[in-house]
Amino acid sequence: PDTLPPAEPRPAASLPSGLLDALLALLGPRGVLTDPADIAPHLSDWRNLYRGSSPCVLRPANTGELAAAVKLCAAAGVPMVPQGGNTSMVGGATPDESGRQVVVALTRMNRIRDIDPVDLTMTAEAGVVLKTAQEAAAGAGCLFPLSLGAEGTATIGGVLSTNAGGNTTVRYGNARELMLGIEAVLPDGQVLHGLRRLRKDNTGYALRHLFVGGEGTLGFVTAATLKLFPAPRETEVAFCAVRDEDAALALFRRFRDRDDSAVRAFEYMSGTGIDLALRHIEGATLPLAERADHYVLVDLATPRPDGGLRALMEAVLEEALEAGEVLDAAIGESEAQRGAIWRLREEHPEAQKREGASVKNDVSVPVSRVPEMIRRCSAALVELIPGSRPVPFGHMGDGNIHMNLEQPEGADPAAFLARSHDIMDTVNAVVRDLDGSFSAEHGVGRLKTDMVADWRGGAEIDLMRRIKAAVDPQGLMNPGKVLD
Ligand code: MLT
Ligand code: ZN
Repeated sequence: PDTLPPAEPRPAASLPSGLLDALLALLGPRGVLTDPADIAPHLSDWRNLYRGSSPCVLRPANTGELAAAVKLCAAAGVPMVPQGGNTSMVGGATPDESGRQVVVALTRMNRIRDIDPVDLTMTAEAGVVLKTAQEAAAGAGCLFPLSLGAEGTATIGGVLSTNAGGNTTVRYGNARELMLGIEAVLPDGQVLHGLRRLRKDNTGYALRHLFVGGEGTLGFVTAATLKLFPAPRETEVAFCAVRDEDAALALFRRFRDRDDSAVRAFEYMSGTGIDLALRHIEGATLPLAERADHYVLVDLATPRPDGGLRALMEAVLEEALEAGEVLDAAIGESEAQRGAIWRLREEHPEAQKREGASVKNDVSVPVSRVPEMIRRCSAALVELIPGSRPVPFGHMGDGNIHMNLEQPEGADPAAFLARSHDIMDTVNAVVRDLDGSFSAEHGVGRLKTDMVADWRGGAEIDLMRRIKAAVDPQGLMNPGKVLD
């Protein structure tokens, strides 16, 4: 729900004298937004957790322009907030309220510079939309496997800066594992030219990895060389009702042990989450005869022409039915049916939003502990707020569950959101006990900076602070994010 006051762009006059003219001369009128109506969409996040202000929005057209603009801002001591598709779940791309931070949107830098089907690489600029990158790879007969709900809006720069995960981590890893080389603009305007496409390159510190997961606090990712894979020739998707969380894990192991290279995604959903999707998402229908309390989505894919995936899917589901783990299952018979199954899963965030206020807990534990985590967190949350509705869903195959909580039906959303910290603490206590993480794939952003200090104390946070001070001594890059 929209509980925040309207966005407030600050007048560009609040920039140090002469800077706006210099930026306009450099980037031209398309490259500097000053009209409050144009700036407004850049000031709040998808979840409406934060609204900041910015005197203008910079939109450089290429790396050279960005580097020159960063030099001007750095010389004037102006803090910068990198922004891609602005789909952060943790306020990572939103400026603060001071009116001093300038949003720098990389969306005009959207060229795919190169695709090489022999090297299996693609070099894409930061502003390329993830879906566009996937389509370009497919057009060249290849696969760029990173896939997540916001892929129609999220950009390559954003998914790398946050080391996004999504649905296919179980098979292909996170964004970090898909990156071979990077080009970045440092906080002083220098360009780091690291767009190498090598599979082996042990030449000192792997600096490229500083910018992945750095969430824009160490500089701007301007382009990356990404790994591609052979395109799948066969895919199968099934939607299954399972007995409980343990049965979901057992089913995952059955598929993985038969052919782990075929498991592209293995997603868990609760009965509550599916009920919300059926209630709020137009055209959504349950592909099974009866409602259940637990479901999984299995997505198999292979580049083998005679992959035998249908036989594999049927054999494993049959075994699991006999073992009482699977209660019922539907296999998608067409692209449309496979898409409809995926939609039930992908629309969870939207369905939760439409149902009312909710609190997200993007946590991970070792895969073996997912069932225990879901059970213990759900019980603790309902005890904390009677009537609240746990909606655990997500990437069971890699141990990352969105342990989200929906407000009690009919309750006051603001009163529920006022308990956000208690809710997150409750989940985190269980997750910590199970050797997990408070942020699996959404990052730290602005929302979780206090958790970094709490969870990554001692030498870890000390080294992070020293790296930040060494790379960005003026503290101009995305201040207030990751480290407070
Ligand atoms: C997803 O996997 O759909 C998102 O990362 C989860 C969320 O919105 O909590
Ligand atoms: Zn997710």
